[in-house]
Amino acid sequence: MSNPSTEPKACIIGYPAKHSRSPMVHGFWLNEYGIAGQYDIAEVAPNDLARFISNLSNHGYVGANVTVPHKEAAFHLVDKLTATAQALGAVNTLWFENGELWGDNTDVEGFLSNLDAGAPGWDDRTDKAMVLGAGGAARAIIYGLLSRNIKSILIVNRTQTRAQDLAEYFGRSFPDQTITTASWDDMPAYLPSCDLLVNTTSLGMQGQPALTINLAALPPAALVTDAVYVPLVTPILAAAQARGLKTIGGLGMLLHQAVPGFAHWFGRKPQVNEALQAIIEADILSACQEGSK
Ligand code: ATR
Repeated sequence: MSNPSTEPKACIIGYPAKHSRSPMVHGFWLNEYGIAGQYDIAEVAPNDLARFISNLSNHGYVGANVTVPHKEAAFHLVDKLTATAQALGAVNTLWFENGELWGDNTDVEGFLSNLDAGAPGWDDRTDKAMVLGAGGAARAIIYGLLSRNIKSILIVNRTQTRAQDLAEYFGRSFPDQTITTASWDDMPAYLPSCDLLVNTTSLGMQGQPALTINLAALPPAALVTDAVYVPLVTPILAAAQARGLKTIGGLGMLLHQAVPGFAHWFGRKPQVNEALQAIIEADILSACQEGSK
């Protein structure tokens, strides 16, 4: 018989958090590797976050994921930050090391590993990337692109000041790369020179308006990817596929961002394999069918 009190356990801290698929992902790996451990959901209201995190190890947790709306607040509640977390001002993965609480932002690794797995060598073939959106997801993705030495990044956002703030912020740390902004209206003019198109807006997500862009002007070798993964094939990915372009869905970003946390908490670097992908895809498909009833 296993003794639950000695098993490592982690959790996802969010508000709400019930919808999260992280328990399914970590549960799959715990089972796959025969590790006695636990991954819980912790719904924590913003007012209770500081208390919850300062008591994390008292609650028996070896670490946690942090999701909406706590990623920025948690950034200020850890003892140590990775360089990535420092650059982004937000954390999504916490763990203890020598009694100190560390915070990292693994959305960057999630985005990059998803592209590495789906289109190996994509970064060598990308001079110009276009990022749609300027929220938290865009921030992580732009940082990832800059860290891979992508020469030129164009940020397109409905609220242009947000895009400009991001361009200015990252421009200071990456002076040798070009970060510019454009309005939605001006965006089509940039499509012919775009090697990589990334959607980070919530457009195309189930229940949200579709993202509709005429992709005819994209080069035939352009890669199109979406941070949205519900539905699995978003309208913009479907449009890109219809044009014969290579696409990569957002689910892999979710799966790959979970890898470092699992490794810290449970002592083994897990693989994002087809079996995991299939289980989560089935869950998303059934949620989409429920949603459309
Ligand atoms: P996240 O942290 O997930 O990136 P966010 O910070 O709320 O979430 O950002 C959502 C992004 O989707 C923003 O770029 C937002 O544009 P604004 O900055 O103008 O709000 C974009 N977005 C959401 N709904 C949109 C819509 N209907 N049309 C265009 N962009 C939209």
